[in-house]
Amino acid sequence: MTDIAPPKTYRVKSFGCQMNVYDGERMGELLEAQGIALAPEGEEADLVVLNTCHIREKATEKVYSDIGRLVKAGRQSGRQPMIAVAGCVAQAEGEEIMARSPAVGMVVGPQAFHRLPDMVARAARGERSTDTDMPENNAKFAALPARRKVNPTAFLTVQEGCDKFCTYCVVPYTRGAEISRPFNDLVAEAQRLVDAGAREITLLGQNVNAWSGTNAAGHAAGLDGLIRAIARLPDLQRIRYTTSHPNDITDALIAAHGEVDQLMPYLHLPVQSGSDRVLKAMNRSHTAEGYLRLLERFRAVRPDIALSGDFIVGFPGETEAEFAETLALVDAVGYAAAFSFKYSPRPGTPAASMDGQVPREVMEERLARLQSALNRDQLAFNQASVGRTCDVLVERRGKLPGQWLGKSPWLQSVFFEADEPQGAAIGDMVRVELAEAGPNSLRAVRIAA
Ligand code: SAH
Ligand code: SF4
Ligand code: F3S
Repeated sequence: MTDIAPPKTYRVKSFGCQMNVYDGERMGELLEAQGIALAPEGEEADLVVLNTCHIREKATEKVYSDIGRLVKAGRQSGRQPMIAVAGCVAQAEGEEIMARSPAVGMVVGPQAFHRLPDMVARAARGERSTDTDMPENNAKFAALPARRKVNPTAFLTVQEGCDKFCTYCVVPYTRGAEISRPFNDLVAEAQRLVDAGAREITLLGQNVNAWSGTNAAGHAAGLDGLIRAIARLPDLQRIRYTTSHPNDITDALIAAHGEVDQLMPYLHLPVQSGSDRVLKAMNRSHTAEGYLRLLERFRAVRPDIALSGDFIVGFPGETEAEFAETLALVDAVGYAAAFSFKYSPRPGTPAASMDGQVPREVMEERLARLQSALNRDQLAFNQASVGRTCDVLVERRGKLPGQWLGKSPWLQSVFFEADEPQGAAIGDMVRVELAEAGPNSLRAVRIAA
């Protein structure tokens, strides 16, 4: 590589989970603190950060096709952007990317991206660099500038990494060991987000409910304690958290759902399978029955709680009868929303070399059946909400004039009309009655607050 001009503009493309999106926002803030501006919409950036995801094969393939596209576009315009590969593929396949893609100027892992500005400076001098260190402390967070985000809904990573080692999953390898960020830092970051305009904060972690810390009074606190502390911030109207693991659910967290007004009636609790044999092979260390009992306890304190889950079909060895147990679990729960995936063998994970890999056609057929059950339940949940009054936190304008879009407490997408001059504004909490349900959204009518 030869010397290239230091970048003036950047763009971050995030491909992964909410934690990946959060990291992407923080990388943007970091670059802005160096005087590199977000590229205007539709314009090519001098620096493109591909913030990648390694969770399934398809997600990983995207990085190589994106690099190819950027190189081609650069050749056509005569201006090659500087390319940084960040995120979980960077962590897992950093060296391979460097070897395969000479256009990539730097590779930086999810725990090292605070060093991005330095790497950009080196890339401008023609030096390619890789940093996939995983410091054991929270070095990354301490080195980041203050939050500048202004959207009404904000993410806040409270916990990094994963110690669960589900046999199909790359996250423990790409994100490292579980680390909880300190209580005081989190309350301070939440305050800054609220000051910058956030009305809803979603606390993030791959095992967010494994968060633990020491509160301001010096006492041990769990996620419920953190939620209660953040709920005391004036002007913060909504709190959510994701993703939880069934084994880290505490009585205190369940109780918080019945007591903290700002904590929204929504729980994303992945289960993956309804078969105890498969759950064991996945190293999930909970049973289907144990999972159902947990959900009952949430429903006891918060009867309207919307439940969501993640599913994998076609885990190695999964039989038709075991898949039927997953369908039975879905019927028993009645999910408001869910995410379901075909099993994807990931390099280096124990499941990738297990016997009984399920043929693709079988996986596809099972996924279709599962998704039709989940879609049916999602529509039923939305239909059952019709007639309810609730607040909608307005996130953006809708497609039609006078139309606004936001989320209900149950995380449903809701659109309503608010004619000028009364109008509405992004960040408003608007009282509505839910009037009509579709599979993916609801139409609502504004009512007097
Ligand atoms: N930490 C969270 C979610 C991790 S990743 C949890 O434990 O629930 C998000 C989802 O991706 C998982 O819940 C799982 O359903 C899916 N997933 C992870 N690895 C996968 C793989 N190898 N193949 C298919 N789906 C996978
Ligand atoms: Fe992956 Fe399991 Fe950890 Fe979730 S709990 S991130 S699925 S290893
Ligand atoms: Fe993907 Fe990494 Fe998140 S693998 S799902 S971006 S933790």
